[in-house]
Amino acid sequence: MALWGGRFTGQTSDLFKQFNDSLPVDYRMAEQDIVGSISWSRALLSVNVLSKQEQQDLEKALTDLLAQVQAEPAMVLLDDAEDIHSWVEIKLIEAVGDLGKKLHTGRSRNDQVATDLKLWCRQQGEDLKSLLANLIEELVKLAEREQDTVLPGYTHLQRAQPVTFAHWCLAYVEMFERDVQRLNNALALMNTSPLGCGALAGTAYAIDREALAQDLGFDRATRNSLDSVSDRDHVLELLSVASISSVHLSRMAEDIIFYNSGEAGFLEMSDDVTSGSSLMPQKKNPDAMELIRGKCGRVVGSLTGMMVTMKALPLAYNKDMQEDKEGLFDTVDTWTICLQMAVLCIQGIKVNKERTYQAAQQGYSNATELADYLVAKGIPFREAHHIVGVAVVAAIAEGKPLEDLPIAKLKEFSEQIDDDVYQHLTIEACLEKRVALGGTSKDRVKEAIASKQK
Ligand code: ARG
Repeated sequence: MALWGGRFTGQTSDLFKQFNDSLPVDYRMAEQDIVGSISWSRALLSVNVLSKQEQQDLEKALTDLLAQVQAEPAMVLLDDAEDIHSWVEIKLIEAVGDLGKKLHTGRSRNDQVATDLKLWCRQQGEDLKSLLANLIEELVKLAEREQDTVLPGYTHLQRAQPVTFAHWCLAYVEMFERDVQRLNNALALMNTSPLGCGALAGTAYAIDREALAQDLGFDRATRNSLDSVSDRDHVLELLSVASISSVHLSRMAEDIIFYNSGEAGFLEMSDDVTSGSSLMPQKKNPDAMELIRGKCGRVVGSLTGMMVTMKALPLAYNKDMQEDKEGLFDTVDTWTICLQMAVLCIQGIKVNKERTYQAAQQGYSNATELADYLVAKGIPFREAHHIVGVAVVAAIAEGKPLEDLPIAKLKEFSEQIDDDVYQHLTIEACLEKRVALGGTSKDRVKEAIASKQK
């Protein structure tokens, strides 16, 4: 049953109904629609559209319905209704009869859907914040375990300078902390209530929209009815935050896939998050991380899709906007399971310290140290850089690391190089020199871990 039959003399085609109905998607906002409806009934009481008794009866029926959908959200799908707003109204009329028909006074599905969706985003945003916090906590734990583990640091995927494994963990902690901040910003900005804006021009009843906003836990009411019913910035923002966070997840996944590879062998992912090959018996594949890396594409795709849906839409509400939910719901689900999966993967990681140490020793990762050594002896950095470059070429030709070249050989590159050079070329020396804030020295990393544990 549609809520708008009177204007029509002809029948709705089955295909159009299937095309137009959004219940199979927006049933997930049942709770928000009912909560919004309860507040709306209170607003109608305040302007004497409903008597005290009527409002109480409506609130009771809505509260019963809320308990039912909370217990069994999929129950909504057993019925046939155009959308979740129609479903709630139909159920209410079934429960209380004609009184239920009064609830939609002064309200439109346009301010209703905008309100429901903001309430939904707010709830999900809070859940996502705690999932991000779990991942941050797990990465900090791994950092604590691997404070003394040396890892080759890369630029251009070429071994560059050694870092600690903990330093790598904390790099992702920074990213996920920014995601939490971004979520907070988005949630703060979207926390305004569109309810009471009607279809587009505002409601004809003298409703105190600020009181209504407070009742629903919003900071305040929105200011312009045209904007309120057509604003989907909150969807775009949640999709943006999800996209950026998914990019972070995909980068972490890519690092782990590489570290887990036979070529690197820096770590092993646990059996509970890896899978085998149907043909090659030896395989143990990092599917969980590959899926996290891959799902990022869907999330960014939903952001792009919604941007294009909103582009050049005229004021105010247009049915195009019904397309906002599929991508948003899918994104929130995808982001949620990726964060949960990342936690499980990080928990099971076993780092191979010997292998990472060995790899950090190769690839001339201490070349910068030799240049800095020459700088300390009074050679300008640019010149020192060139001298060490020549030394690296010679070392490569001999198939040896810099520290294995005898002093006589090193002196060929610069007279300033003395026996004390070797102590500067150890991995430990490379790490310990990075003492400035943000660097990979033991003390800085220890401080960073402690600051994340507060
Ligand atoms: N199902 C619609 C949506 O999600 C609700 C609003 C419909 N409003 C309307 N006037 N047809 O956007």
